[in-house]
Amino acid sequence: MNTVDIPGEWEQSADQIKQDAKTCIVTCIIIGKNDSGKSTFCKYLVHTWTASEIRVGYVDSDVGQSTIGPPTTVGLKIFNTPPNQHDYSNFLELHFVGNTSPEGFLLQTLHAVKRMADKSHQQGSQITLVDTTGFVGGPVARIFKLHKIEMLRPQWIVALQAEDEMEHLLRGYEKMGWRVIRLTCSKQVAARSQAERQKYRNERYKAYFKSAKVINCPIHKVVFPSGILGTGQRINLQELPKETYMSDTKYLYIEKCGSELLIVIDRLVESMPFYKLKEYFSVTSIACIERFELKDLLVGLNDKDGNTLGLGTIIDLDPLDDKLTLFTPVQDIHKVTAIYLGNIKVEQGEKECGKMRHVRYL
Ligand SMILES: Nc1ncnc2c1ncn2[C@@H]1O[C@H](COP(=O)(O)OP(=O)(O)OP(=O)(O)O)[C@@H](O)[C@H]1O
Ligand SMILES: [Mg+2]
Repeated sequence: MNTVDIPGEWEQSADQIKQDAKTCIVTCIIIGKNDSGKSTFCKYLVHTWTASEIRVGYVDSDVGQSTIGPPTTVGLKIFNTPPNQHDYSNFLELHFVGNTSPEGFLLQTLHAVKRMADKSHQQGSQITLVDTTGFVGGPVARIFKLHKIEMLRPQWIVALQAEDEMEHLLRGYEKMGWRVIRLTCSKQVAARSQAERQKYRNERYKAYFKSAKVINCPIHKVVFPSGILGTGQRINLQELPKETYMSDTKYLYIEKCGSELLIVIDRLVESMPFYKLKEYFSVTSIACIERFELKDLLVGLNDKDGNTLGLGTIIDLDPLDDKLTLFTPVQDIHKVTAIYLGNIKVEQGEKECGKMRHVRYL
């Protein structure tokens, strides 16, 4: 903390919240736009409160520039004593979200934050401190942040702002009765470029995947909540009528469940007779997964209780052979019951190499 600029108002707010923690269990959320100093302030709070012998649960809901755990996850770590920088390099628990921003993953982010905040309380944290992303501008972010606050019901909302860029949120929160502390961003805050942000994320993936190995997982033992794979009836391709026949595909797997049809194919072909397939199978939607596109896709591996055991990247998905091949540090693969697909690709567990929509609805 030596090189950090600590304004007097940081000390006052830390003290104010600390007093509260003497009489009740406290949740405190830190909000602000990108590069407003949220994570630096969180580390200061962890340091200060633990120095006063307060048990602090740090819930890191910044799924992009993560402090606790790898990107695409919400991480939790409990601190009892003032940490060193390297104490932030591991985590107690994490929950997979699937993206490096809440955009497109709003429900997943809220769910993950709630789980980690609950775990923090179960671990006996006197203060649960929630760090957040800089996703604060525009109507979607406004509604998202409000629901996050309604869900967590924090005793304190602390906003870091350079001028008045958070007021579109804060005035509403105050009218609703939430306690808000406004802090001015430090002049020492250094904005980071997209390239620096990406480099940081790659370092975090690399650290996370350092002990990863290639493993196989039988598809029939797991579910993929973003699709019906493994829950329906496999279609025998020999029985397909002529008008639905796809001659220019080498790999083809079809499964039907309820009103949905799932097609796993090497690559989507223009000649796909999806109207005829819909009609023939009497389904309202066809979900198509392109096998080649799945390579390197980040996935979350959850157990039967909904805990994220860890992350993996897909090497291959082969439902014809009942086999999902993953690169993952998770050892208890037999405990995995659900595989959540994200939309970030990470090559060899160390380099982001694109984004994708894993399922296409036709
Ligand atoms: N009070 C401070 N004193 C010195 N440096 C600071 C201070 N606050 C922030 N910084 C520096 O500014 C940069 C951005 O700060 P920080 O990571 O805390 O911001 P953030 O709001 O969490 O960003 P993001 O939205 O990307 O997560 C970091 O390099 C950090 O070291
Ligand atoms: Mg941050």
